[in-house]
Amino acid sequence: MSLEQLVKEYQVIAIICNQWGDTGKGKFVDYFAEHWADVIARGTGGNNAGHTVIINGKKRIFHLLPSGIIHEDKINVLGNGMVIDIGALGGELDELDHEGIKYHNLMVSEDAHVVMPYHIDKDKAKHSGQGNGGIGSTGRGIGPCYTDKIERSHGIMVRDLFNKDVLRRKLQKAKKEDFPDINIDDVISKLQPHADRIRPFVRDTVTEMHRFVKEGKKILLEGAQGVLLSVEYGTYPYVTSSDCSLNGTAAGVGIPASIVHALGIVKFPYMTRVGAGPFPTEFGGKESEEYCAKGIEHDIFFEAKKHLWMDLDLDTIRKLQKENDLAELAKYEKQVENYISSHHSKVRDLMNSIDPFLQGVGVRMAGGEYGATTKRPRRTGWTDLVSLKRAVGVNGPDLILTKADVLSGADDIQLCTHYTHSGRLMGGVYKRC
Ligand code: IMP
Repeated sequence: MSLEQLVKEYQVIAIICNQWGDTGKGKFVDYFAEHWADVIARGTGGNNAGHTVIINGKKRIFHLLPSGIIHEDKINVLGNGMVIDIGALGGELDELDHEGIKYHNLMVSEDAHVVMPYHIDKDKAKHSGQGNGGIGSTGRGIGPCYTDKIERSHGIMVRDLFNKDVLRRKLQKAKKEDFPDINIDDVISKLQPHADRIRPFVRDTVTEMHRFVKEGKKILLEGAQGVLLSVEYGTYPYVTSSDCSLNGTAAGVGIPASIVHALGIVKFPYMTRVGAGPFPTEFGGKESEEYCAKGIEHDIFFEAKKHLWMDLDLDTIRKLQKENDLAELAKYEKQVENYISSHHSKVRDLMNSIDPFLQGVGVRMAGGEYGATTKRPRRTGWTDLVSLKRAVGVNGPDLILTKADVLSGADDIQLCTHYTHSGRLMGGVYKRC
């Protein structure tokens, strides 16, 4: 069935990753958002996701806004299942203002939860590193925010931002029960301008979504992360805190999964993972996991200098990163990106190295596998068909394979068809395949 026929048959399509995220969902979301959808909605996660869009010829990374936001005639929804850092959302709206893009069609769920500054502090302290049991989170406060939601004591919903009494009462409870160091007045005064900014867009988006379904609008659900990172079906506890499968994404916008047709994105024939957790097919196994756990220390600049002998002043780059000087950094990024590609003979040599760790470095460079949100190097390995089978069981059989050209310079490719040690993906014992 052609793509055109396929999309004609469905009213609601979800683009869901069948691996650990970063499979190139964005390209398909962009395509369907521009050519097919009337409504684009996100249902899970927050600004732990990252999505590159080109506006007026410039590269921008949105972490919260659905990619349909650049099309003024499309409705964009941040659903009830999301956790929203309203300061970060304001920053993304600033970027749209800067580019002259109107966003009157944005809807933010009144039921979504708000990522508070103390969630971010807690996440950074506990999980953003990978030592001492940290899972290598993105440090965006996602886990602590969902924890408060599930605990049902002082989780702050978007609608609470507009009820002073409720907000203060919840903050008092948060202080008493879990976050003794917060200064309530300070938190409120810092939230206020961001809350005012998003107020015009706040809606009962569940009811709105039901209306869109009834009106026959074409709806695109933009998945976040990937099913192997789902808190329900993933490699728990090395997962994110939402259910980023088809089921969780539908629940996160308030519609039945039975009316949604999922297109599962699969990186092929290699795959990647960021952060801690099992990865049976990883090139270089533990060595790669520990190396990538160093995060930004081993970013694209470090690797270009070390493995491709590129003439880069790492001290200056680190200084710019500390100062968050994005404009200057973009120049260095461009320089490196122009240099690194799968056509570079050194990258090909690495990709075909007999040392699996170096092979992983080569594949990372060939595929540009560095985090959009955190800039961390992504762990690389062959595509694992065992975990894919599980993902298909959850999300359905239609697959889109991505990045196949990245390994066009590889002498051979392999796929994992079974594990050599018994055990399920979650919590089993693994060997390289
Ligand atoms: P958190 O969602 O920030 O709590 O991170 C939990 C785990 O999910 C960590 O291993 C992160 O690296 C991973 N993760 C979160 N968001 C993404 C994403 O968008 N792509 C890939 N991995 C992600």
